[in-house]
Amino acid sequence: MNFRKKIAGLLLMMTTALMLSLSAGAQEMITEEETSAGSSDILVVFFSRAGENWEVGYIEKGNTQIVAEMLADKLGADLLRIETVMDYPVSYDEMLDVATQQREDNERPELKELPINPEDYQTIFLGYPIWWGGLPMPIYTLLESYDFSGKTIYPFNTHGGSGVAGTDQEIAKIIPDAEVKDGFAITGKTAQNDPDKAKEQVTAYLKEIGF
Ligand SMILES: Cc1cc2nc3c(=O)[nH]c(=O)nc-3n(C[C@H](O)[C@H](O)[C@H](O)COP(=O)(O)O)c2cc1C
Repeated sequence: MNFRKKIAGLLLMMTTALMLSLSAGAQEMITEEETSAGSSDILVVFFSRAGENWEVGYIEKGNTQIVAEMLADKLGADLLRIETVMDYPVSYDEMLDVATQQREDNERPELKELPINPEDYQTIFLGYPIWWGGLPMPIYTLLESYDFSGKTIYPFNTHGGSGVAGTDQEIAKIIPDAEVKDGFAITGKTAQNDPDKAKEQVTAYLKEIGF
């Protein structure tokens, strides 16, 4: 093989490798829109529901998801959304009934398989909305499905006026072998409609807890 052919072959190989890695990157961006894995030892895991909700009308992205994304962004953390196999209703009124029923039945709604394992992280920010003054039942499913012993958990939530509502203490009861920190609460309306204010609150919270 003469020198020119060798150079041409080498260039072709390099271009192909570059194209392959670019297309792999693009695929990652598509499939991991709400879940980013592998780059951090901090995980932000959240449950959140789009649809019709208290004080915000119909929303495309859940209030808690907005806060979760802000936290993950500021922390450089991985982001993981938990979803149930069953679909929650879009209608707020119907949603209230379903949540009441699940709470009364002490149900553990089945979760879709998670693309990353929360057990791989030492520091976990756990986000959820307040439902009927407490944790949504899918959070019980999550906490009972994985081993959180020895991990540090930072609970955060969005709400319509109830604040943390003792959910940090409830989490500590479910996973007694984890170190569960005080909860951080932000109203759903602020998260949804006033991103600047929400970001300020998120930044102040992270500063307070030393991040
Ligand atoms: C079924 C249900 C029950 C709720 N119960 C409460 C409550 O007890 N206290 C409260 O402050 N907000 C309550 N809310 C309002 C939500 O906590 C609030 O809208 C939250 O931001 C929703 O977060 P998401 O969009 O991430 O699901 C309730 C909402 C729903 C759908």
